[in-house]
Amino acid sequence: MTAAPTDSTSTTSEMSCLLEARDHVRSRTSFTPKVTLFLGSGLGSIIEGMETEAEFPSAEIPHFPRCTVQGHDGRLLLGRLGGVDCAVQSGRFHLYEGHPARVCVRPLRLSRLLGSEILLVTNAAGGIHQDLNPGTLMLLTDHLNLTGQNPLTGENVDELGPRFSDMTQAYDLRLQEIARNQAKNQSVVLREGIYAALPGPCYETPAEVRMIQTLGADAVGMSTVPEAIAAVHCGMRVLGLSCITNRAAGLSSGTLSHEEVVEVTRKATETIRNLMLGILGDLAESTS
Ligand code: HPA
Repeated sequence: MTAAPTDSTSTTSEMSCLLEARDHVRSRTSFTPKVTLFLGSGLGSIIEGMETEAEFPSAEIPHFPRCTVQGHDGRLLLGRLGGVDCAVQSGRFHLYEGHPARVCVRPLRLSRLLGSEILLVTNAAGGIHQDLNPGTLMLLTDHLNLTGQNPLTGENVDELGPRFSDMTQAYDLRLQEIARNQAKNQSVVLREGIYAALPGPCYETPAEVRMIQTLGADAVGMSTVPEAIAAVHCGMRVLGLSCITNRAAGLSSGTLSHEEVVEVTRKATETIRNLMLGILGDLAESTS
């Protein structure tokens, strides 16, 4: 039996939950990932060809909640991908599943405790900016946290980072440059913009999309922001990539469905995979 997920608010308990999770992994492997990948719905096949060293079903890791979304496959994989030692969180925890933000980011924080320094995060998103049509990729330059939650709420985990985290440049400029160059070399159109995260699980109303547009968002989704905040807090460099799967609600004549989101993402998988492998290749060169 593994320990049930806890929603502790005290520093000691949160850190001890994380240390228990780390000890679980360390009891089986000493593998140290440099880069952590969080993959969005339907993007699991990006890691085909990964030389896996160790694999952990999320449900077996102490204090990890269960992953309940179709298209998400909850596993932590440690291994080599694109020449880099990676941790891959395939399937992740969302606020809409009912997990508090602090619990949602445990996999990310576990990666940090295993030694990871960089977060590459992908998601599916609805396009708001007129150039963001289904199938387009968008590099995140900034975000709007409209989830109503923050993973850093509660007593600060001092072992990981400061009480007041600077978010001036949440998405790392050097990683953005690497992504831009890779996209150019691979002739991939890579748009750039601001990602707004809402809690979900329902898609937005057209009125909400107009509101978010007014606030400055280019795309909208239900993930990524908790992990990005927690990653910045613990000193990781972050690169975010959205796969635009649909025009946001009210911006096209159609309606939205999760099946459509997964299908459009699936079609873009090869492009995203090549881009990710190219970025990892550059990181392998720059860190070796
Ligand atoms: N809204 C929120 N999340 C999403 C969307 C959307 O339009 N598309 C894919 N994920």
